[in-house]
Order: sequence, then C-alpha cells, then structure tokens
Amino acid sequence: MPAARPIRELPDELISQIAAGEVVERPASVLRELLDNALDAGAKHITVRLLAGGVRLIAVEDNGWGIAPEQMTVAIKRHATSKISSLQDLESVSTMGFRGEALAAIAAVSELQLTSRTTHQAHAMVLQARTGEIHPAAREVGTTVQVQDLFFNTPARRKFLKTDATELAHCLDTVRRHALARPGVGFSIWHEGKNLSQWRAHHGPGATALRLSDVLGEAFLTEAVPLNLDAGPMRIHGFAGTPAAARARGDQQYAYVNGRFVRDKIVSHGVRSAYEDVLHGQRQAVYVLFIEIDPTRVDVNVHPTKIEVRFRDGREVHQAVRHAVESALALPRLGQTTAASPQAHNPLPAATPMAHWPQTRLDWAVGHRVTEPSALWGPAKRTAAVDPLVDFPAPHSPIALVQKAHSPQPDGVTNANDWPLGRALAQLHGIYILAENHSGLIVVDMHAAHERVVYERLKNQWEGQGIECQALLIPANFQASAQEVACAESNTATLQRLGLDISVLSPTSLAVRSVPSGLAQGDAVALARSVLEELQANGASQVLDRARNETLSTMACHAAVRANRRLTLDEMNALLRQMEATERADQCNHGRPTWRQISVAQLDALFMRGR
Ligand SMILES: Nc1ncnc2c1ncn2[C@@H]1O[C@H](COP(=O)(O)OP(=O)(O)OP(=O)(O)O)[C@@H](O)[C@H]1O
Ligand SMILES: [Mg+2]
Repeated sequence: MPAARPIRELPDELISQIAAGEVVERPASVLRELLDNALDAGAKHITVRLLAGGVRLIAVEDNGWGIAPEQMTVAIKRHATSKISSLQDLESVSTMGFRGEALAAIAAVSELQLTSRTTHQAHAMVLQARTGEIHPAAREVGTTVQVQDLFFNTPARRKFLKTDATELAHCLDTVRRHALARPGVGFSIWHEGKNLSQWRAHHGPGATALRLSDVLGEAFLTEAVPLNLDAGPMRIHGFAGTPAAARARGDQQYAYVNGRFVRDKIVSHGVRSAYEDVLHGQRQAVYVLFIEIDPTRVDVNVHPTKIEVRFRDGREVHQAVRHAVESALALPRLGQTTAASPQAHNPLPAATPMAHWPQTRLDWAVGHRVTEPSALWGPAKRTAAVDPLVDFPAPHSPIALVQKAHSPQPDGVTNANDWPLGRALAQLHGIYILAENHSGLIVVDMHAAHERVVYERLKNQWEGQGIECQALLIPANFQASAQEVACAESNTATLQRLGLDISVLSPTSLAVRSVPSGLAQGDAVALARSVLEELQANGASQVLDRARNETLSTMACHAAVRANRRLTLDEMNALLRQMEATERADQCNHGRPTWRQISVAQLDALFMRGR
C-alpha cells in the first residue's frame, strides 16, 4: 500500500489562494468530506454508520493507509494537508481533498474523534479533537472518524437541520455519488444499527456497470446505452438512459470530473443538447457520466465544497459530452432481446441489461448459423404471414419509393435472420408491423418509425447538399388565409431550402408545386400548411436556425405513413430495412419507442410451454 505523505501546514500565500467558505452545512456534507478522505487514503472498503440521520453520529471507517500518531493532531488543524504543498500542486489536483480544512471545520462544530493506525504501528491511537487527548486503542490498519452531535455548540445552525429522515436521505445520496464513481471500493451503510446497503467491490471492464446496477437498480442499465469517447485530453465514459427511461425529475443525473461528483452547467447542457432530438417536453434524461480530463485543464478550486469546477476550455468539454451522448444514443440497439416479463400491461423494455449487451450482440451475430430459418418459420409461414396479394397495392407510397433505392433482398442471398428487425409478417390494426427475427417477434409502430426515418433523411440532406425536392405532376392548389399567402410570398427562399415550392395563385389561394423528394405521395397541402404555420410562429431565421429540427420533424410527421394505411409485405420490409440503416431509429421524433422485441422465451412463458 502506498504510504501517506506528511501532513503539513500550508504557507499563507497558498492559503489565500484557496476558495474559502463554509463546508459543513448538514450531516451529508460531513459525510462527503469523510468519504473523500477515506478514498484519498487508498481505502478498499468503507463502512458508514449513522445515528439519527447523521445528526447524532456519523462514523466513517476505512482500511486506507492511516495517519501516523505524531501526525494526528496536525491532521485536524486548519490549513494542514498532505495533498498539496505548492501553488503548482494546486493547479493539477488529483486527490479529492486539497484544502486541508475539512477535519478542522468539522471538529469546530461537533465532537470529533479520530482513530488511526498505519502499517508501521503495533496498535492504533485515538485522538479527541476537543481536548487534544490522545491514547492507544485497538484497530486494524486504517482510520475511523467519528463525528457526534453535529452543531451541538451552534444551536442556530442545528435548528436549520431537517427531519432525521431527510438528513438520512441526503447522506445516502452522498454515499451513492461516491460509490458510483468508485466501483473498486466496497461500501457498507448502517443506520441505527440496521444495514441499509452493502456494495461489494467490482474489478475489471464490467465494474462500472455492475456498480451502477447495485446503486441505481438493474432497471437503470436495462434502459441505458454505454458511453465511450476519447477526445484528446479527455475521455468520457459511463451510461446514458434511453429516451424511454427519462423521468419527470432530474434526480438521476450524475456527472463526474476526474472521479469527483460535480454540478456543472456546461456538462448538463451538453447532455441536454444531445437528447434534444429524441426527448421532448420537460422529460429529464438519466445518466452517469464520467469525464477524465488532464487535471491542468480543470480548476477544482472554485467552490469550497468542490461541487463546481471551471474548465479551461468549456467549449471543448461541451462538444465532447454532447458528442459522446449523441453518438451513443444514435446507435441502433437492434438485435437485442428483452428480458422483461410478458405481462400485457407491462410495457416491454427495448433491450437486455447493458451488462449482457456484448453477449447478446454476439448471439445475434451467430444466431442464423445455429438456427435454420426454415426451422423457425415452419408452420408460421403458412398461417401467420399475410398474403401480399390480398393487400391493397400502394406502389406510390413514400415507403415504396424508399424501397426502390434500398431493395431489401437484392440478390436473394440475404437471410432474414441477418436482419436485426427481421422479416415482416403482417400488419396489425393498421398501426403495427409484426416481424420475425431470430429471437422472436418484433413489433413496430409504423407511423412512429417511418416518421423517424424521414426526419433523419431530411436532416442529413439539409446538412449535406440541401433538401432534394421533387415537382408534383399536378400542383396542389388550396384555399389559403391572407396570412398564409403573405407568409408564402415573403418566405420563398426559406421554403425552397426546405424543399417546398409554394406559389401564390390569388390573394386567397396557393399552389404547392414541389415538395421534398420522397414526400410526394403525402398530403402536400397539409405539409405546406404546417410549414407556413411554423414560419409564421417562429420567423424565417428561427426556422432555419434554432427551430430547424422542429420544422423538419413536423414535415416528417406529415409525410409519415398514416395509421390504417395498408402496407404490402414489401413495403413493410422496406421500412424495417430503412430503420436498420437509420440513426436514432429506436425512438420516434417525440421520444417514444418505435419497436419492441418479444422473445420466443416470452411467448413460451405466455403459453406456459416447457413448464
Ligand atoms: N481517512 C483518512 N486516512 C488517512 N489520512 C487522512 C484521513 N482523513 C484525513 N487524513 C489526513 O488528514 C489531512 C487533513 O484532512 P482534511 O480533510 O482536513 O484535509 P484535506 O483532505 O487535505 O483537504 P480538504 O479540506 O480539501 O478535505 C489529509 O490531508 C490527510 O493527510
Ligand atoms: Mg479532506
């Protein structure tokens, strides 16, 4: 175990550089400081014991390297630390603590007792902070800090404490924040003699995922995607919840900079903008995001409680965070099966827990070699499939047009099991497409899915060559209000950029002459009307800039295939193949899922097969 460095009092000029201020506000803040200290001392296991929500007692025991007896009185002095010794150190802090203030500040408002032993001592020593008394005690190597009767000598502050239950909740939150960042450290938490949590240490590549599932519950991982981005001096990893996992409150948003939990506007904004396109309304994403950054590029000496940091280059961090989350969300999570129960009232999660993800992926990749499709299809082929001939042909539908460009089975070689979203079987209630893949049944919300496909295509075109447009054979004329006419007249250039050619026929009528290609078979008038409405509401510059995605999304919604439109199997397959090739195809433009997998095992469970 690496030994402790000597604790020294900081020189005055360095003290003056350190963000000053009160750090002890409530039991949870004491706990945060003690956990920081235990982690800095290399602890592999930390036990927290609380009485009365931490107001009566906070005890933190660690198995770190301990404090030498002659250093113990120095440790509780103000401005005494082993962690930095110069201004230069302050510019690249790699420990949780560095101010040399926490123990002194806590000792000033409580009865603090410090028990510690290093590997060089035959026994521990215990120091009473108030009296300075020190005497031998029994203890393994490591440190225990006991903080009793917080604010006993400052009744005014004690009055501000909330109920024990509230203080306990804050304490647990504090332990959770530390535990998420340190899967390699075990944690036990006791309150009033009862064990509340016990998280064992995890090591190796899956450690973070396992700890997340310990602390936040398995459900968190079931609906999350892994993040991984290397961006020069920065590495971002962690997990981001799918849009379906978003919550009304932002209570599962954990951001860390070099292992330290922070509240940072740049980071949270970066995440929010990554969800912009898949999460609507007031829903709050869930995430656990770790930023590892060269310590010289971040100033941790901004706020006395260290909850805020200042990045040397905020833009760089914002971009990296946004990119990390955006690209993780964009990856289609196809080819995974769900582990959920098949109860009908229970919406099925879209994927297996991420911890199993690579294996599932692998299973999927080799699945078609193991199971012959004919064996899977067997009787289903005769009974379940809808005969395409009885469907109404819809050769000019937007999907049919798409299909020409991306024929699903160009050479007849492609095996249906190679398609993550499988082979279309039928349409259900004019709303859902049913498809079969190697793990079971896929159910697709066809409007939602098509809407996303069209939306992504419009966005790509916008960012590339511009939106392709297509002249209508017969212009669509319609009665328009004076405002609509005026709006069309003054926004021709903007409309053209959006792939729309709308000309004025008379003071009360307009004609749509061209629409974005691929959307020609949709309702051109409804499309034109809603774009004009957006233009009136937001103004051209807004529509082209900030509201652009909203406008494209509105257009996609109009163009997307409506409920009750009969699709042929070819059209359904074309849509499935498009979804597979489209980023963010797992959710519609409003953040709802576009498809769900129901595994054969779940179907078997429904019919009690194999029991
Ligand atoms: N659990 C512990 N194990 C080993 N050493 C400890 C422990 N807790 C505190 N120390 C020692 O006591 C010193 C003072 O701790 P204190 O928390 O007051 O300051 P700090 O951690 O250096 O800085 P900060 O005020 O930012 O927390 C530390 O620098 C460290 O050397
Ligand atoms: Mg400290």
